[in-house]
Amino acid sequence: MNYAKWISHFQRNRENRPEPDWAAPFALPESVLRPLHPSLAEYQLGDGGGPACLIAGDAEQFRGSSEAMRQIVDLWFAEEREHSRLLGRAVDRIGARRVHEHWSFTAFLACRRAMGVRAELQVLLLVEIVSTVYYRLIRRHCTDQPLRDMCSLILRDEAGHVAFHRDRLAAAGVSNWGLGGTLWELQFRRFGLAAAAMLWLNHGRCLRALGTRPLEFCREIHRELSRFVWRLGRTAQAPACVRLPMPQPA
Ligand SMILES: [Fe+2]
Ligand SMILES: [Fe+2]
Repeated sequence: MNYAKWISHFQRNRENRPEPDWAAPFALPESVLRPLHPSLAEYQLGDGGGPACLIAGDAEQFRGSSEAMRQIVDLWFAEEREHSRLLGRAVDRIGARRVHEHWSFTAFLACRRAMGVRAELQVLLLVEIVSTVYYRLIRRHCTDQPLRDMCSLILRDEAGHVAFHRDRLAAAGVSNWGLGGTLWELQFRRFGLAAAAMLWLNHGRCLRALGTRPLEFCREIHRELSRFVWRLGRTAQAPACVRLPMPQPA
């Protein structure tokens, strides 16, 4: 895995981030605002609003595997904290109340603490994949420009996070090739669909009020999961000569 590439990516990604115009005139109908309030407030808590770090019992095995990996993980979670800040501004803009706890978030944290870091990383990856669909659908259907601009910033970051996971999995020898790869893909898709179902359960009302059809949501989820698996296979099959050497810890 090319650690230097990811450190450089996260450092460059801090640049050129125009803040959405939160003071712009606001005109969303009540039918959209009512379900948007709890949805954005819960996302503000869930997307970087809690402990912005890996919390599995053995998380240090992954984060502390090298100084470069520690830096990458910290840069990744700094972007998650930024998502919570942006979502907080969005919550304030639409006149919603911020939430500091929610049963689904508490259960999510408990699961992450109880599982090993490999499982926690997969859970976070799947949440990032289904959240990509959430933000994309809001950007597509919401008429409020600052909210759409916020979604564009978060989508840009999440694309990098998902690509980072793809690189680290490929470097660990994971792919969708062969019997082992097929079994990995099956479990990955199954948990991905479970994450999507949770998203629809908690936020489907908001997405529907914005104009999203259930079929559109399912199609986007299928496309994101398939794209990840396909690109992982391609990355894992890339000739070794195009992979840069892994820097040694200092
Ligand atoms: Fe995020
Ligand atoms: Fe993320």
